[in-house]
Amino acid sequence: MCGIVGYIGRKDAKEILLHGLEKLEYRGYDSAGIYVQNKAHEGHLFKEKGRIAALREKVDTSVEASAGIGHTRWATHGAPSVRNAHPHQSASERFTIVHNGVIENYQEVKDAYLADIDLKSDTDTEIIVQLIAWFVEEDDLTTKDAFKKAIVALEGSYAIALMDSEDPDVIYAAKNKSPLLLGKGDGFNVICSDAMAMIKETDQFVELMDKEVATVTRESLVIEDFSGDVIDRDAYTAEIDSDDLEKGTYPYYMLKEIDEQPAVMRKLLQKYQDDNGDLTVDQEIVDTMLESDRIYIIAAGTSYHAGLVGKQLIESMTHIPTEVHVSSEFGYHTPILSEKPFFIFISQSGETADSRQVLVKTNALGHPSLTVTNVAGSTLSRESNFTLLLHAGPEIAVASTKAYTAQIAVLAILSEVVGKSKGLIHKGTMLHDIGIVANAMQAIVDDKEKIEELAAEYLSISRNAFYIGRGMDYHVALEAALKLKEISYIQTEGFAAGELKHGTIALIEEGTPVIALVTEKGVAGHTRGNLQETKARGAHTMVISMDGLDRPDDQIVIPHVNPLLSALVSVVPTQLLSYYCSLHRGNDVDKPRNLAKSVTVE
Ligand code: F6R
Repeated sequence: MCGIVGYIGRKDAKEILLHGLEKLEYRGYDSAGIYVQNKAHEGHLFKEKGRIAALREKVDTSVEASAGIGHTRWATHGAPSVRNAHPHQSASERFTIVHNGVIENYQEVKDAYLADIDLKSDTDTEIIVQLIAWFVEEDDLTTKDAFKKAIVALEGSYAIALMDSEDPDVIYAAKNKSPLLLGKGDGFNVICSDAMAMIKETDQFVELMDKEVATVTRESLVIEDFSGDVIDRDAYTAEIDSDDLEKGTYPYYMLKEIDEQPAVMRKLLQKYQDDNGDLTVDQEIVDTMLESDRIYIIAAGTSYHAGLVGKQLIESMTHIPTEVHVSSEFGYHTPILSEKPFFIFISQSGETADSRQVLVKTNALGHPSLTVTNVAGSTLSRESNFTLLLHAGPEIAVASTKAYTAQIAVLAILSEVVGKSKGLIHKGTMLHDIGIVANAMQAIVDDKEKIEELAAEYLSISRNAFYIGRGMDYHVALEAALKLKEISYIQTEGFAAGELKHGTIALIEEGTPVIALVTEKGVAGHTRGNLQETKARGAHTMVISMDGLDRPDDQIVIPHVNPLLSALVSVVPTQLLSYYCSLHRGNDVDKPRNLAKSVTVE
């Protein structure tokens, strides 16, 4: 959450920072700001509430500067406003910073050092810059030493970039838990929360690690630890196709990403295939999983929902008992673990703070872990023992779609490979079955006009809605409900179909939309019965069924696929229903209110 950028070079810093912030807008979009300074020590600060487009309007185009820092915000401390937008400055305006993260001990720091200073904002960030100024003025420290001393005093998460108007040729940066990359160029250098922000300038990036400080000038990037020892770290090439970052002819990224799902399925089959045409994953992962007596899947939000499906895949193909946990709960209320646990972290971004705090704990206990993520080199990927990539391409819409289906497909591939190694599966079918899934997804996205009509009929004016299902369909119901509520703002519940009658059915009123997912033979009749119970009480019912289990009146019939993989296909119409519902309600589909894509605070 929150995105930061910095540039020091020879070109127009304003434009590079604004462009970078546009690419980071998925991380937060309630306010934004940039600070630029020129060699004559003149600094210019621009801040605005709302989107980067609003900030762009506010920036004085006549200002010339070739160094600066910028920020796009997802509010934690203090409401979204110009006053709370970053960058923040010290009282004298000599020091300026941007910050991504949460300072947990900001009140203690304020009381200890800054009691006499009138803060200008309600943010935790402002105390950092005031503290740096305080150390420079009171302790007579250099800017770099004051920066180091300040960050040592901080508890919490941060990625910070600092500028000093008395030394306009340098940007200082540091991080703890929140991600920060340094980008190398010829005669310029950059910093950013995500390589996407600066890929137009360079594809050479160096990771900054926790408890390090970077000194960034036009000509050099120096990383050192807190005791001043210089750290030599090679740059890596960020493989981001800038075309993947554009919407092309699509009105919203979400629609593009829904449409990309068949291609992602096919790409995964290519990436996880060996020379003999068999599905494969790193043998070390397989061996470690085989040695374990229980698998713990840890994730949040949509990734947690993918984990629920993953449990069914893993247990049915590998027979290893599997538990799925919401990361923000698991870390602080850890259940009794088995003797040989194996942890699987599922995270599109690989940066989710809730999941990372669990990984820190499981690492400390020495338990092996695998991260399933879309972002190579992300924090969770770096800090776990193994990584399996989603190969889904950048997912930019806040509502996750192609990452969810890619997560399930990767878990299906992993399960089959482990099941084969264990001798439980003789001839794998996933290669073929996921290929069929890709075709089924294609058939659904090719017929989206029909789903648009259903969205208008069922969801355009409703206040609340339900998705119901059993087994795999229940897991999809949870994801479908999350998708609908987060972008349409309709209060939606995903419910185990059989559980509705135990209380929640009281919420059904005349016209309440209830959408049943029916893809599992053994429980199809029961789910239909539960749907009838809601219909009898006035619900406006819809059925999404799988070919073979369909009935003539079903509104959406998905093609038949391996029932273990039905979630991959049945979720697609629900994604489209959410998309069109949000669109018809005039919402910003890609950037729903109150949300951000990469949730780097607990
Ligand atoms: C919803 C959504 C979120 C994320 C959750 C975890 O559409 O995207 O619920 O799934 O914030 O994020 P990752 O997967 O990056 O760990």
